[in-house]
Amino acid sequence: MTEPRLHHLLSIEDLSAETIKAVLQKSQEFIDSKHYINGAEKVLSGKTLINLFFENSTRTRVSFELAAKRLGADVVNVDIATSAVSKGESLLDTVYTLQAMHSDFLVIRHKKDHTANFIAEHTEPNLRIINAGDGTRAHPSQALIDMLTIQQHKTDFANLTVAIVGDINHSRVARSDISALQKLQIGELRLVGPERFLPQDLPGAHFNDMEQGLEGADVIMLLRLQRERMLEAEIPDLMSYFQNYGLTEERLKLARPDAIVMHPGPINRGVGLSNEVADCKQSLILDQVRNGIAVRMAILSS
Ligand code: NCD
Repeated sequence: MTEPRLHHLLSIEDLSAETIKAVLQKSQEFIDSKHYINGAEKVLSGKTLINLFFENSTRTRVSFELAAKRLGADVVNVDIATSAVSKGESLLDTVYTLQAMHSDFLVIRHKKDHTANFIAEHTEPNLRIINAGDGTRAHPSQALIDMLTIQQHKTDFANLTVAIVGDINHSRVARSDISALQKLQIGELRLVGPERFLPQDLPGAHFNDMEQGLEGADVIMLLRLQRERMLEAEIPDLMSYFQNYGLTEERLKLARPDAIVMHPGPINRGVGLSNEVADCKQSLILDQVRNGIAVRMAILSS
């Protein structure tokens, strides 16, 4: 397999299936060699990565930082609350300021769709823009993590039934996962949740009934209820949401016995899934976190 070539990483739609597979292979090499823990060849020595997160994050921000440091880069985390953004500076002026400091990577998360593309269109070509989640549209590095996690446990995407469950409407992870699964020619795609959380324009078979949606699934991808993106009236009652769509041990039995359970995090125990499911053997939630460092090392060094 040839080395993947990436410049910006804005959305999964921009990547070919070959590029996705090459990034996954490179990520797996960082895991097999333990370089994702112990550090790799310092190919980013002398380079600077800036994390510019306008929305909260634990795993994405920290794993971009660790990935960059393990490849020898300097990392700066901009604290939005104490930055000049709170003095009314525009997004572009903030970005131009960071660009003037000769940074090499700008990892950006923003609540507005297409922010990463907008910035890439307005910055110099040598500043690589990495989309760490924009609005409800795209979270490409998370989708690559999710594909790697599936690939580590299942042999052939074409034979898999994947059920994505929950608040798909507000989920950039779901949109990027769907796009990646399609590029990798997934066998069967199911979207499971209350009608109002299943956008009509998204592909796959739509299920409002959780039990039917889980029947025989190989992969269950859970999503958080993104209450911060909902109008007050849209927010479901958490207890009844759990009753209808929470993944419990009993419901998990409807999927294949070797089904895997994934969640990009943050998880809300007792809402999207039970405690028992979060901690069960089939749950790969912390594997996804571990894979996050390796995938981001592969992205930054490609
Ligand atoms: C997700 C996000 O921010 O899009 N988290 C993540 O990056 N792992 C999902 C979420 O917030 O629910």
